[in-house]
Amino acid sequence: MAEKAAYSQAASTGKYDKASGLLGKYDNVRRFWEDQVTGIFLRPALNELMTQKKTHLERIRVLDLGCGSGDGYDLIMGVTAKDPGIYEYITAVITPDMLKEYMGIEINDELIKQAETDYGYYPKVRFIQDDLSSGLPESVKKQDPFDIYLTSYGTMSHFHDEQNVKIISDICRHAPGRTLFVGDWLGRYSYEWQDLWHYPPDQEYFMDYRISYIYPEEIRDQSDVAVFPLRLITRDEVMRIIDEAARESGAEIKPLRFFDRSILIGRHTDTGDYNKNCPKLRTHINSLFEGYLRTDLESLLVDYVPLPGFDYLNNFFEMFFMSCNTLIQYTISLLSEYDSETEKMHAVPDVLPFYPESLKEAMHSMRRLIEGVAWLKWGDVRANVIESHLGYSLRKLEMDMQPGTGMGHSLVGIFEIRK
Ligand SMILES: C[S@@+](CC[C@H](N)C(=O)[O-])C[C@H]1O[C@@H](n2cnc3c(N)ncnc32)[C@H](O)[C@@H]1O
Repeated sequence: MAEKAAYSQAASTGKYDKASGLLGKYDNVRRFWEDQVTGIFLRPALNELMTQKKTHLERIRVLDLGCGSGDGYDLIMGVTAKDPGIYEYITAVITPDMLKEYMGIEINDELIKQAETDYGYYPKVRFIQDDLSSGLPESVKKQDPFDIYLTSYGTMSHFHDEQNVKIISDICRHAPGRTLFVGDWLGRYSYEWQDLWHYPPDQEYFMDYRISYIYPEEIRDQSDVAVFPLRLITRDEVMRIIDEAARESGAEIKPLRFFDRSILIGRHTDTGDYNKNCPKLRTHINSLFEGYLRTDLESLLVDYVPLPGFDYLNNFFEMFFMSCNTLIQYTISLLSEYDSETEKMHAVPDVLPFYPESLKEAMHSMRRLIEGVAWLKWGDVRANVIESHLGYSLRKLEMDMQPGTGMGHSLVGIFEIRK
């Protein structure tokens, strides 16, 4: 009986739930692509902030606005200081001893409860339930200033432009002399919502957003999915908000970096809710990162369907998807040309000199990797090494080619506030 009680108790913690990176909020794309891309773009600004803080013998305080279930904590603490060498073990920019406080603010009480369950046991983590729709609430204003004001995964798109201006100008007033603000919106021109591209670019546009992607495909249609409005935005529109917030607060807000995240695969690539031509890529890219699971690489090829009248966007997506397809086809050829008996490649397809530099680099690295590891006889080297490297290479192509103007699921701006 004691045995049964012990197993039942273990199961009730939820820790016995089947772990899979193939579906759900924390799928492989979220953890190995989206979180990591955000971290890599944040790295230079965070490195600089940490250097300054250490010089002044200070530690950092982070405010996560619209923190949901508190995942911004892992996001910010997971940023690495640089591309680590192969030997180093500790690579975080913000080591736990350098964090003074992480505070999350969120309107939804159920998410706050979840955040407290997941992160509340960290002594330096706090959550408060409050509303940001009229700017920073009193519960935040009465706190000491923060070094980083963070939003993530589209939080700023919950608000109208004038609310955005109020939130950012309040942050400027609350902030100390020099501070980082990270603004995360939804991009206006993601391929996954091509049906929405025609809305006039000079008007604030809110899409009807469905979190339909958390349901498996088989039951997606039967599920009663709630709809809520989210603002789709371009870099120019964000800059108008930023300029207005700077004018209202009297602070200088300097954009350090804009980047598009999730151009190849957004949350809605698989649902087809806003573009029925969008390939069901997320499942397959999740599979690339999953150990001991081989992926049909042909299923990763994108057959881009242009939208007449949008030449600039079509040209960008043609070039981007053709580069991804070229890398995928090259990988397929290398795998088919590898001879396991002789441990040699029969023939190697050409890497043409006029390809974009980042594509050439990805192709050369894929060849070196396959030649270097394909001979291994234990572990499934294709599923466990080569496929995940293809995933990271596609991610790198996206990072190198993204223009930071609103072409992906998310558009993120990193700003420095100076007073
Ligand atoms: C797109 S989610 C991002 C959640 C979280 N940052 C993450 O990375 O998973 C946006 C969050 O903003 C919260 N939110 C929306 N309106 C808000 C408001 N007026 N005040 C505070 N939080 C709000 C939502 O409840 C939701 O948790």
